[in-house]
Amino acid sequence: MSERERWASRIGLILAMAGNAIGLGNFLRFPRQAALNGGGAFMIPYFAALLLLGIPLMWVEWSIGRYGGRHGHGTAPGMFARMWRHPMAKYLGALGIAIPLCFVMYYTYIEGWTFAYACFSAVKQYWGIDTFTEMSRFLGEFQGKVDVSAGAHYFNGLGAALVFYLIALGINVWVLWFGVAKGIERLAKVAMPLLFLFATILVVRVIFLGTPDPAHPENTVAAGFGYLWNPDFTRLGSPSVWLAAAGQIFFTLSIGNASIHVYASYVRDDDDIALTGLTTSATNEFAEVILGGSIAIPVAVAFFGLAQTQQIAEAGSFDLGFAAMPLIFQKMGVLGPIYGLMWFGLLFFAGITSSVALAQPMVSFFQDEFQWPRKRAVALTGLAMASGGLPCVFFLKHGFLDEMDFWAGTFLLVVFAVIEVIIFAWVFGMEKGWAEINRGADIRLPRLVAFVIKYITPVYLIVLLGAWFWLDALPVLRLQGKPVADAPFLWAARLMILGWIATFMILTGVIWRRRHRKEGLL
Ligand code: TRP
Repeated sequence: MSERERWASRIGLILAMAGNAIGLGNFLRFPRQAALNGGGAFMIPYFAALLLLGIPLMWVEWSIGRYGGRHGHGTAPGMFARMWRHPMAKYLGALGIAIPLCFVMYYTYIEGWTFAYACFSAVKQYWGIDTFTEMSRFLGEFQGKVDVSAGAHYFNGLGAALVFYLIALGINVWVLWFGVAKGIERLAKVAMPLLFLFATILVVRVIFLGTPDPAHPENTVAAGFGYLWNPDFTRLGSPSVWLAAAGQIFFTLSIGNASIHVYASYVRDDDDIALTGLTTSATNEFAEVILGGSIAIPVAVAFFGLAQTQQIAEAGSFDLGFAAMPLIFQKMGVLGPIYGLMWFGLLFFAGITSSVALAQPMVSFFQDEFQWPRKRAVALTGLAMASGGLPCVFFLKHGFLDEMDFWAGTFLLVVFAVIEVIIFAWVFGMEKGWAEINRGADIRLPRLVAFVIKYITPVYLIVLLGAWFWLDALPVLRLQGKPVADAPFLWAARLMILGWIATFMILTGVIWRRRHRKEGLL
């Protein structure tokens, strides 16, 4: 077997893993979820999910990943097959390639928007648009959501969106082309420090905003922080808040889709994962609640007030980041374009360091299992990304992207997490699992963690999954509240996801018959 790649340095590994976790979720999704779920009401279930699901699963995924890497497997089929000697294991593992692939298809498109808006800010493209309605229209026309048959105000087709999508896709492929250490790690070493720099400058600027509108003295930055940080215990009885909080933890920490595993498989066998896994989780949480929580919400509350901030969040997933923020940059004086460039630039860096992590599972699968040369694996992955990304570009207005986000970015993550934690703690066994987590560890973890992983995390997950199915998945599955005309697009999205799952299961079966079965791997 040819020597597998390795991370070049520990700091590079931490930055790449932090880059994996820190993404659009931290700066766009988190503020919106917090606003939708009543600010302070959200943070309690959020931290509960972090401690009982997020961090334990993080250690589980790092352990599975490093264990698999030791045996030459960078992806979940081989990892699960090693941990559970049953023919089914590898097929369940195939989910760990299909889910991130379907995820990265639409994620790259959103990344394209951030790149576009960074350019729009730099050249003051949207300068002069001064109402929220008009700014939403600018976004809507750009995304092809607004009907422009009666005359476009800003964009008369999807041309711009398509070009920026292709640029984003191209940059992803270009980074992956150079491999783990020379591509992904080098990207992280440049992008992550810049991301933190831009975010810090923006946070400091936000703190000094004070009361921007003298006519509304109640709209202050402090009110925005208070909104997020004053705990509201009354809504703890609402299951939907708990679901939203857990969903956010999954999304932001990148757990439940086998991309941590892939990165961890390039760790050296006796290198610490306990402390490093915790460090990257902590870094992500800092970027999310401290940086992500201190930009979009406080700034929107200061400029628009609490009630309208909530309305903006409800209006759409991207209105806070792409419609409210551009209005605000225009009120920031001569430096406005620079702040805009920093905001969208940091989003782009957050996005790209995540999307390469989402694409890497498919690359590793072809490299490790099919023994393809990397470049061929990368080229095929790029094509696969485009096959699902282009429908997102063209059918956004029919809900194609949202549908993919629900299944690949929310629901399946929890399903995959249930599978992996059961395989890890119950089939592989918690004793062996605990030894894996602690192998080479630079910190001593309390034994309580093993208890949480074995009992609390799986039960928490299964309860969530049940509630989720009932409250969220069934209505979505039945297309409740969706326009009838969109149904074919939504079904196409679902079939596509199922098609990719089936494809990777079949490929897994093929390669097992050809190679692994002979080596005794079931
Ligand atoms: N954590 C990323 C974000 O916050 C999104 C994400 C989820 C992700 N799962 C992933 C990124 C897997 C890379 C790999 O935006």
